[in-house]
Amino acid sequence: MHSAPDTPLLWVLRCEHQLTGTKFGCGIGVCGACTVLLDNTARPACQIPISTILKSRVVTIEGLDSTEARALKKAWIECDVVQCGYCQSAQLIAATALLYCHRHPTDSDVDEAMRDIACRCGTFPRIRKAIHQAARSLRP
Ligand code: FES
Ligand code: FES
Repeated sequence: MHSAPDTPLLWVLRCEHQLTGTKFGCGIGVCGACTVLLDNTARPACQIPISTILKSRVVTIEGLDSTEARALKKAWIECDVVQCGYCQSAQLIAATALLYCHRHPTDSDVDEAMRDIACRCGTFPRIRKAIHQAARSLRP
């Protein structure tokens, strides 16, 4: 299948590549459930026409395996972050992007990095705890 140039990245990932870990929520750039890493920056895949990123590197939850991501996944488990799970791919993507920039994130850095991703289950206090725990584990 070849997508039209204006097809959102989200649908290319989910429908052409069966990478269904990237979730559909609102489709209008509001909920953050579709967040992926685009050249190491967290971006909503529902808002990115496929023709605009032909030379960019996209990482979804399926391929998220950097040192930072592994530290976060470990902390996520230890802090028992997940509830229903729907938003959690996006949360881990955004947290990874944060740790690429900040090894000592403050609470406000965390809030800023995670603010565009809604969690209806209210896991944010545990997300914040897990991000700090992962950041600590990455420091020398
Ligand atoms: S589905 Fe993309 S921001 Fe909601
Ligand atoms: S864990 Fe349920 S929406 Fe976030």
